[in-house]
Amino acid sequence: MPGKVPFRSVAVLTAFTTTTAGIAGALVLGLSGAPPAAALDDGLALTPPMGFNNWNAFGCDVSEQLIRQTADLMVSTGLKDAGYTYVNIDDCWSTHERDASGRLVADPEKFPSGIAALADYVHGLGLKLGLYADAGTATCAGYPGSLGYEEVDAQTFAEWGVDYLKYDNCGNEGLTSPEETEARYRAMGDALKATGRPIVYSICEWGLTDPAQWAADVGHLWRTTWDISDDWDSLSSIVETNMRLDEAAGPGAWNDPDMLQVGNGGMTDTEYRTHFGLWAIMAAPLLIGTDLRTATPETMEILLNEEIIAVNQDPLGVQGRVVAESDGLVVFSKPLSDGGHAVALYNSTDSAATVSTTAAEAGVAAADGYTLRDLWTGAVTSSAGTIAAAVPAHGTVLFRVEADLAGSEDLPDAGLGADIGLGADAGLGADAGEAVGDTVGDVPGLHPVGLGGAAVPMTGWPTQPGASRRMPSA
Ligand code: GLA
Repeated sequence: MPGKVPFRSVAVLTAFTTTTAGIAGALVLGLSGAPPAAALDDGLALTPPMGFNNWNAFGCDVSEQLIRQTADLMVSTGLKDAGYTYVNIDDCWSTHERDASGRLVADPEKFPSGIAALADYVHGLGLKLGLYADAGTATCAGYPGSLGYEEVDAQTFAEWGVDYLKYDNCGNEGLTSPEETEARYRAMGDALKATGRPIVYSICEWGLTDPAQWAADVGHLWRTTWDISDDWDSLSSIVETNMRLDEAAGPGAWNDPDMLQVGNGGMTDTEYRTHFGLWAIMAAPLLIGTDLRTATPETMEILLNEEIIAVNQDPLGVQGRVVAESDGLVVFSKPLSDGGHAVALYNSTDSAATVSTTAAEAGVAAADGYTLRDLWTGAVTSSAGTIAAAVPAHGTVLFRVEADLAGSEDLPDAGLGADIGLGADAGLGADAGEAVGDTVGDVPGLHPVGLGGAAVPMTGWPTQPGASRRMPSA
C-alpha cells in the first residue's frame, strides 16, 4: 500500500518524583527517528492551511452573504495579511438533488449568485475558496454525496474555481475497512488531480482507519479525530490523540485535529490560548470557526498572534513532538527553520502547576545560555538551560527558544530543584494567568532580560556561586 508510515517507538527513559512542589512524577519520553510520510509532491499546503470554515459557528446556516462578509472581514481585520487564506464552505451548500446531467447544484436560496461567482469575489480579495463534499452517498447533513460521482464533481468544483475540498465520510455504505476507505478517498484525490486545478484536498474520515498510515499521498491533510466541540473535554481529548501522530506530518501532509473553536464562548481565554498555541505547535491547520462579525478583541488577539502563527507556518514543517509528559503535564518541542525551537508547556490538569524541561530535552543545540521569548506576553528571559513556567490549569505557555551562540553571560541555572521536572503549584485557578498571558507565579532560574509585554514575575538570581552552566542530560 502506498504511503505507509512507520511509527517510531516511544520509550520511557527516566522517571522521578518531585516532592517540594507538592507532586509529581516526570516521565521523559525518547522517540527514535523514522522517515517522514511520503507527501503529495504538488507544491500545495507546504505549510498547514490557514483560513475560515463556517461549520463550528453556523452549522448548516451558511450562505453567500455570510461567506462574502467573512471574506471582507478577513481582509479588513488583518487576518488575510496574517496568513489566513481559505474561506471554506462546509456542509449544506447544495440542493437535495443533482441536476439532469448529474451535477451538484448550489442551493439557489443560500447562494443566489452560485459558487463560481462567489469564488470570483473571494479571489478578487486575494483569498481562496473552499467547498465540502462527501465520500459516500449522502453528506452528514443528508445532501448528495460524491461516491460514484467523483469525476463529475471534481470537474464541477474545478470549473467553479474551488481551491480547497473537505471530503467527509458519511453515507459510506459500510465501505469502512482501511482499504475501502482509502479507495473512496483516493478516487476523489485522483479526480481532483485530473482536473489540473491546484486544489488542497482535506480528508475527513475522523481518524477511523489511522489515515496517517495511508493518506499522505492521497490528500494534504487528514482529520485525526471525531468532531471538535466547544468545550474543554473535547479539546483536551483531541490533543491527547493528535499529539502522538507527529511523525506522520510534514510539508504537504498534515494531521488535522479539526477546526478552531476559539471565540465561540464555551471555553475560557486561557483554554482558547491553549487551543491556538497547541494547534500552532502541532502544525495543525488553523481554520477559524467563529463568527468574525461579532468576534471580541480577545478572540482577534489570539487569532492574530503573528509569532504563534509563525510557529505554525514555519517552513521546516515539523509537527512539534512530545518530549516529556507526566500526569497531564506535557512538554512539546518543535524545531524551526532558523535553528530555534518552539517549546510548549501544557497543563491539562485542573490545578496550576509548574511545568519544566531543559533545552537539551527540547532538542536545542548545547550552548552556554538560552533566550526564551514568551509568545503570549512578549516577555524575554535568559536561562542556562531550564525552560519552565508556572502554568494555570488548562493553560499553555509557549516559548521560542534560541541558543545564545556567542558572548553569553554566565547564567546560573538553579532553584527548581531538578532540571527535568513537572510539578504542581497549589492555589491557582484556571484563569489565574489571564492578566499576563498564561504564565503565573515565580519560576526561579529564569532571568528577565527584556519585556515586550506584561511582566512575568521572577525571583531573581540564585546566590550560590558556581551553581551554573551545567547542561542537564536528557
Ligand atoms: C462531519 C464533519 C464535520 C462537519 C459535518 C457537516 O461531522 O466531521 O466537520 O463537516 O460533518 O455535516
